[in-house]
Amino acid sequence: MLHLLSLGIYYAAICIVLPLLYFLIAALYNLTLHPLRSYPGPKLWAATRLFWARSLQSGYYHQKLHSLHQEYGPVVRIAPNELVYIDAQAWRDIYVTRHGGHHMEKNTVWGKSPPGTPQSIVSTEEDAHLRNRRALTGAFSEHAVSEHGGVVEGYVDLMVRKLSEMAVGGNGEAVVDMVDWFNFLTFDISGHLSFGEGFGSVENGKAHPWVEISCSFGKGLAMVATINFFSPLDKLLRYAIPAKMLEKMEYHKELVRAKLQQRLSMDGEKKHDYVASILEYNKEKGDKISYEEMRVNMTVLIFAGAETTSSALAAILNQLIKNPVALQKLESEIRSAFQHESNITIASVAHLEYLNAVIEEGIRMGPPAAIGPLPRVVPLGGAEICGQWVPAGTHVSINQYPAFRSPTNFTRPDEFVPERFIEGFQGDKLDVFEPFLVGRHKCLGQKLAWAEMRITLARLLYSFDVRPAGGYEVPDYGGQETYIFWEKKPLMISLHLRN
Ligand code: HEM
Repeated sequence: MLHLLSLGIYYAAICIVLPLLYFLIAALYNLTLHPLRSYPGPKLWAATRLFWARSLQSGYYHQKLHSLHQEYGPVVRIAPNELVYIDAQAWRDIYVTRHGGHHMEKNTVWGKSPPGTPQSIVSTEEDAHLRNRRALTGAFSEHAVSEHGGVVEGYVDLMVRKLSEMAVGGNGEAVVDMVDWFNFLTFDISGHLSFGEGFGSVENGKAHPWVEISCSFGKGLAMVATINFFSPLDKLLRYAIPAKMLEKMEYHKELVRAKLQQRLSMDGEKKHDYVASILEYNKEKGDKISYEEMRVNMTVLIFAGAETTSSALAAILNQLIKNPVALQKLESEIRSAFQHESNITIASVAHLEYLNAVIEEGIRMGPPAAIGPLPRVVPLGGAEICGQWVPAGTHVSINQYPAFRSPTNFTRPDEFVPERFIEGFQGDKLDVFEPFLVGRHKCLGQKLAWAEMRITLARLLYSFDVRPAGGYEVPDYGGQETYIFWEKKPLMISLHLRN
């Protein structure tokens, strides 16, 4: 018995001591011999990935990166094998240039999926990405986006009507959470462009379960990305996901299948939505998109199109109501440009100079992809980034929040000054402002997003005087948590009907 006990203690000691020893030796190596050892950054972060993981899980990773850049400069080592940049040159060196004939590919640890998993436009496998991107390009051409214009205008009109009805019922004033309404709007538009019909959220003034489930995914994705870095813990991942979450994911999958089935049965009608683009591609090409890939693409596109645009609108409106002078200037531009709300169309708002500048400045201060885009991996042979040699296998990225808020890139970086995008501010480095990414993975929906943002803001400010609701303290947008996506706090707005 005693023998068994001491054997148990012996093995337990080995199980603890060996990993601890391995951890210490690895940390020592990372600090003293690793090829990235001379890059600046906090020593504990360079020694082990644990500090990066803790920061990502805190929700304030974007702010931490910002302060690390302030302390250590434009390039910081934030994990044993990872560097982050805020210099405009890094956009080209990481996301565009070919190094020794190779592109820098996406870091597969973030989106690791078991073999046989259906691929999509956001696949980390480059061939699958290219095939899916080609299949979807038709739905985002100039022509397609101008056809989608009617759908977008229709939902924005419906939202303005619903809000007007609420205001009429409230003696000319409606108090609403605009984060909710922007979600209703953008998810309805995305749903319509995917499946030929929206989710009914704007009509009902209430989030469809799809919207609620999608918006709760951010934390889960950040958790998965973190655990994936600590193999073999990732093998236990599916046991760590709460049963309720798994249930929601399954329900969501079924919902997509049902919607997709319904859309496919409408194929007689000529539509120019995302499904139509894939069906057209499948008809012409050999390397087809399977049904399951179509399902995953629809989930991705609805989310990529809706959550980002809704976050952008929330960030812009948040800044506008905190900056009455800019708000008034924008109101004047919009109200003097149109005689009637029916004249406000996607085409007619496209050239409003101040509106465009407000959108850019709002996104600069609260970029939807705050801690994105996803890091890339330096290919075999290494690469030069911002004039310095980086060895193969290093994870590298620009993170938008710290890059757009950096005083080395923007004068008065924490102030909302749309004029910087019109007249230019001395010291501003506007070439660092790439909220839609550059290169092969640049946002496919950029034109659509611009159309949605312009028409939504123009219609809202034409019909209503918007102010913070009484007693409501407008949150600091950058002070909110972000787990890949922003955990947006309510944006309580008082809408006063004009006329
Ligand atoms: C203000 C709104 C938006 C912003 C700031 C934005 C930003 C981005 C960024 C930064 C990426 C690169 C992600 C990465 O590779 O890590 C991206 C990719 C993408 N976005 Fe957007 N986006 C917006 C709206 C939209 C809309 C409306 C759609 C329409 C469905 C869309 C569809 C996509 C798709 C399909 C990709 C993947 C492209 C690829 O990997 O080839 N986005 N977006």
